[in-house]
Amino acid sequence: MSMLENISTFQNLIYIASSILFISGIKMLGKEETAVKGNFLSALAMFIAVLITFIDPKIEVNIYLIFAGIGVGALIGSLIALKVKMTSIPEMVALFNGFGGLATFFIAWSEFNSVPDNAFQYVLIMITTYIGGITFSGSIVAYGKLSEKLKIQKTSLITKLFTTIFYLSLIYLIYSASITYLIPPSFDFFTILLIFTLLGGIGFVMPIGGGDMPVVISLLNSFSGIAAAFAGLLLTNNVLIVAGSLVGASGLILTIIMAKAMNRSIGNILFIGYASSSSNSKSEEVGEVKPINVSDAYLILENASSVLVIPGYGMAVAQAQHVVRELGELLESNGTEVKYGIHPVAGRMPGHMNVLLAEANVPYDVLVEPDDVNPMMDTVDVAVVIGANDVVNPSATEEPGSPIYGMPIIEVHNAKTVFVLKRSMSSGFAGVQNPLFFKENARMLFGDAKESIGGLVSEFKE
Ligand code: TAP
Repeated sequence: MSMLENISTFQNLIYIASSILFISGIKMLGKEETAVKGNFLSALAMFIAVLITFIDPKIEVNIYLIFAGIGVGALIGSLIALKVKMTSIPEMVALFNGFGGLATFFIAWSEFNSVPDNAFQYVLIMITTYIGGITFSGSIVAYGKLSEKLKIQKTSLITKLFTTIFYLSLIYLIYSASITYLIPPSFDFFTILLIFTLLGGIGFVMPIGGGDMPVVISLLNSFSGIAAAFAGLLLTNNVLIVAGSLVGASGLILTIIMAKAMNRSIGNILFIGYASSSSNSKSEEVGEVKPINVSDAYLILENASSVLVIPGYGMAVAQAQHVVRELGELLESNGTEVKYGIHPVAGRMPGHMNVLLAEANVPYDVLVEPDDVNPMMDTVDVAVVIGANDVVNPSATEEPGSPIYGMPIIEVHNAKTVFVLKRSMSSGFAGVQNPLFFKENARMLFGDAKESIGGLVSEFKE
């Protein structure tokens, strides 16, 4: 066996060890107690995989330049991760997906410049470029939408223009990949694909919004993995194929689960989109709201025999999970049955509410899903909505034409009394008014959720 073969065998053995660590790490992420260890294990696996890649004698570039790149990247990544607020993690995830896509886009581009010797390589390059590019520009748009910096209507002219470009980019990809078997693509031909791809990604995500954003984020996550797996095929790097496939597959499974939870098919989300606001949408409907103060809310809660807590994004903003748990315990010691209704897309990332409540030590067995709690909602004395809005909006079931029509909700409007804890009458992520606030049985407890719940806790303790 030659020296080169020895190195390659050793490298592949270490890659297998890294892959095993990746898989164990992902498995550990499934449980709260082992999640931190799982994250560390996967990071360690990636570190080992990157390190062992350097022994490859085929690497011709200046190794110091690569280390400088890794150093700068690690510094920027660490600074961002240390500074980012918990509520901004989903935006950060969107950006990370995008940069993963950009890296594979550049890999494929550079492979094109090194002039492959067969049509299959060219096709691989085109597909990698396309998925990587779409992931990058699509994720930037997703970042803009999640951070609420980008507000574009699905029906606007600009959205329609970019959506058309997306479809054209897809046609161009199929055409160029097919023709490559007859004529090797020229530089100009490939440049058009690069431009089409980046613009197409914008058009891919632009028309998607409202309740469908969580699904598209996990799909982009999956795309970043698929792009990496294709890049692995291009570079014949086994660990990149394994790591990319793991991300691609897990992202796809999450996408399917999220789409199911939203009562939608993936095709419907991607190609039809959330319902457009039509003339029969009554989203601007207003009426009389009935505010309530902490003391009166306490009197009602003290007499309730069953309470359902529905947390949403506002609980994360207020960081109210610990006082929420404290209130739950006080209610239970007062003889009240307390449950927590968890909507699959409450908050801004999958499992957001589960993570916050677990952090506050709320037992897992008191968490209930919409399907379990909705049929018995009329037996709930008080539904306490804490910083949730879209996930309890009855327009989703009652108002065809509403941007969130069709999304399953927690039907708190059927409870005997509903307390809505929020700071103002402003809308939630989907940007639509909530008729729940005007219902006969609804009481608005205005203020920061942590302060309002803290006030209730103090009343119980006095
Ligand atoms: P939202 O509909 O976004 O409503 C959150 C509400 O919290 C707002 O109306 C806001 O009203 C209130 N709030 C904010 N800060 C508060 C504070 N400090 N104290 C009290 N209230 C506060 O949240 P949701 O019901 O959880 O729904 C989630 C939405 O995000 C869905 O549309 C979902 O599709 C989307 N989304 C979800 C995900 C995932 S994976 N979960 C990802 C992306 C998007 P005020 O300003 O009046 O206080």
